[in-house]
Amino acid sequence: MNDSDDGNIGVVVSIENTISTIRFNRTEKKNAITREMYSAMAKALTEGDQNDSVRVHLFLGGGGVFSAGNDLRDFTGHSLEGAGLGNEVLSFLGALVTAEKPIVAAVDGPAIGVGTTLLMHCDYVLATPRSYFQTPFVDLGLVPEAGSSLVAPRLFGPQRAFSLLAMGQRWSAEEAMHAGLVNKIVDEREIEPAALEVAAILAQKPQQALLTTRRLLRGDTAEILSRIEEEAEHFSRHLASEEAQAAFSRFINRD
Ligand code: COA
Repeated sequence: MNDSDDGNIGVVVSIENTISTIRFNRTEKKNAITREMYSAMAKALTEGDQNDSVRVHLFLGGGGVFSAGNDLRDFTGHSLEGAGLGNEVLSFLGALVTAEKPIVAAVDGPAIGVGTTLLMHCDYVLATPRSYFQTPFVDLGLVPEAGSSLVAPRLFGPQRAFSLLAMGQRWSAEEAMHAGLVNKIVDEREIEPAALEVAAILAQKPQQALLTTRRLLRGDTAEILSRIEEEAEHFSRHLASEEAQAAFSRFINRD
């Protein structure tokens, strides 16, 4: 069934107690992200930033999965249309990188592809012990996205960034915490309350001081935005390659 047949576009956005929650809600497809979902997330980030009653953005998964990354069927369509990463993906990444308000994420289960790279732009990440982080770009005949080729070496050091982004090694929650991607590991039953608690703590801070501090810590976003564009050009070219198309077919047609 098409996700939107029942009104579910795969993402649920809700605002409560100054926290704007973006929850992946496509569990039957392991929260793989479609173009419609990217658009909904871009809108939530932009509108949340503009809304005075929002102080924090919060990403949540569901069904024991954070996200299986980009919908690989969408990728196949895009490559045929020659649209590369696609405008929806790029506007989401732009909104993510330029968001002014703090972003918290709670990961329970797999975080794959952009499910991992989006976390590199979050401010505080919680994960359950069963979570794992993987970016199999090269194995899919692709290259890193979301500015991760710039941000990951800075966050983790070049060798660890290589193991994640080039080798596609899977990091456990523990490894992700040691690498600096995850702040805290929390039990499955406790993760959402714990994430809400972090968001509530941030929401109660003097807002202007927090926003300025965050801006200073993040530095100039122009460099990241420009790397996102550069990655997208490579991505687009590789997406159309035989090795990438063969990898997508293998996934889509597996038994
Ligand atoms: N794009 C499109 N559909 C996806 C998907 C993705 N990235 N990830 C999972 N799905 C779909 C599967 O096709 C399957 O659909 P179906 O029930 O119609 O056959 C459904 O989600 C369940 O996935 P399945 O693989 O059966 O679940 P699993 O528990 O065995 O494995 C994952 C879960 C996430 C490990 C596995 O689905 C996976 O590796 N997905 C691809 C991840 C990936 O490479 N992402 C792109 C990164 S750039």
